[in-house]
Amino acid sequence: MIREASNQDTPKINEIGLLIKKDFEKVFNIEEELNKDYVQIYVYEEDNNILGFLHTEYHYEITDIVNIAIDINNQNKGIGKKLIDYLIENTKSEKLMLEVRESNSSAISLYTKCGFKEIHRRKNYYGNEDAIIMERSI
Ligand SMILES: CC(C)(COP(=O)(O)OP(=O)(O)OC[C@H]1O[C@@H](n2cnc3c(N)ncnc32)[C@H](O)[C@@H]1OP(=O)(O)O)[C@@H](O)C(=O)NCCC(=O)NCCS
Repeated sequence: MIREASNQDTPKINEIGLLIKKDFEKVFNIEEELNKDYVQIYVYEEDNNILGFLHTEYHYEITDIVNIAIDINNQNKGIGKKLIDYLIENTKSEKLMLEVRESNSSAISLYTKCGFKEIHRRKNYYGNEDAIIMERSI
């Protein structure tokens, strides 16, 4: 089941968020994020366990994917794709955008599978690697 996150989901989101950044909890204060009217966080839940989440920002015609992460033992089972497909079905925006490190091949494969295309590169944005900007029209 996919549903909107609530404050009670914060510890599990922070735990899965460690897969994105070691200091995820400091960089993204999920409780504060949940209070922002332009932020939506969706969780994928099975048998009352959260297995992944998708963190987005709505900016009218564009919705940005800020973070997506799936529990390490539940990757490669289609959950990431289900979360993005859910966003595609439910967004009010005309376009989805995201930024990804060029070395994150699993994320790039997921985004490509979901119809995203590279539109720009920020050269050496992450020191010695590029940031790839991808977008998908709705
Ligand atoms: C990137 C991530 C979200 C993918 O989620 P997932 O649930 O494992 O992905 P899915 O099972 O839905 O895969 C969908 C498609 O993505 C691609 N993909 C996903 N993981 C992949 C991998 N490890 N290697 C190659 N392709 C991969 C495949 O094309 C796959 O389609 P297929 O199964 O039909 O071949 C997950 O690996 C993750 O949480 N990574 C750590 C956090 C992160 O880097 N997030 C992105 C930056 S915020």
